[in-house]
Amino acid sequence: MRSTTQKIIIDTDPGQDDGVAILLALASPELEVIGITTVAGNVPLALTSRNARMVCELAKRSDIKVFAGCDRPLKKPLVTAENVHGKTGLDGIDLPEPTMPLQAQHSVDFIIETFRNAPEKTITLCTLGPMTNIAQALMKAPDIATRIQKIISMGGGFFEGGNITPSAEFNMFVDPDAAKVVFDAGIEIIVVPLDVTHKALTSATWIKELRALNTLVGEAVASWTDFFERYDKEKYGSAGAPLHDPCVIGYLVAPHLFTGKQINVEIETTSELTMGATVADWWKVTDRPKNAYFLNTIDRDGFFDLLTERLSSYSA
Ligand code: BDR
Ligand code: CA
Repeated sequence: MRSTTQKIIIDTDPGQDDGVAILLALASPELEVIGITTVAGNVPLALTSRNARMVCELAKRSDIKVFAGCDRPLKKPLVTAENVHGKTGLDGIDLPEPTMPLQAQHSVDFIIETFRNAPEKTITLCTLGPMTNIAQALMKAPDIATRIQKIISMGGGFFEGGNITPSAEFNMFVDPDAAKVVFDAGIEIIVVPLDVTHKALTSATWIKELRALNTLVGEAVASWTDFFERYDKEKYGSAGAPLHDPCVIGYLVAPHLFTGKQINVEIETTSELTMGATVADWWKVTDRPKNAYFLNTIDRDGFFDLLTERLSSYSA
């Protein structure tokens, strides 16, 4: 009998919002997380690898396999975001250091081996950080491109512009060369840009609901949100902060909460001024081939209801 769960690999650089995305995925019966691969991004690789395991243990899922990946972008020096996420990347609450082991295999080799061994187009890749691991895997093993079911990526922005430079979003800016390799590989790709995530703003009511769950997961997500909100609220003058990465998992579980359009998206890799920009041909003003499904709206309340419902399934 064919399984109805969607198998996914989560490639990530936790990050509080990555942490919430992992918790959402692990609480969603529609999904089977077959591995978590870490990459340098919000904080250096040693910390993203620690944080991913910390989140798995918070979810009481020390059975999840976590693989460490690339410690720097393909060509550029690493840029991190401790100013947003704190020194550890998961600042906001003290959680126990993880005891579950990291897998011995490198993320890139895990990705290659998994796609080579699984039936074609049965596993989806979710990317929540810079796309270095995916690009390395595609460069080392171009044959996996036709085996990947689809890629869903948090990254980029168009009408919203950028969040680390006026024109670039953080994940794209950190490794634009990797993003270009992925966008040029002919794989079905769904992009969750700032245009969506800046509509998925946290609220005081949601934080209160999380605390009312009276669970460690509820307290952790509330405290993480309290922590990273301070930066975004000051920056944007908004009442809440964009909850970026969980939107990727939200799209997988409840695609009806989102709308978008198949368009051409090119990644800027040479201009100093617009490095990492996702040049999105939303109005089809070029003949460039459509290579990505670019999301642009989200049902904000529906998404936060889903999050609360799923996070409430964690026991105290
Ligand atoms: C992205 O950058 C990181 O800070 C977040 O985790 C998210 O993946 C938003 O630009
Ligand atoms: Ca991230």
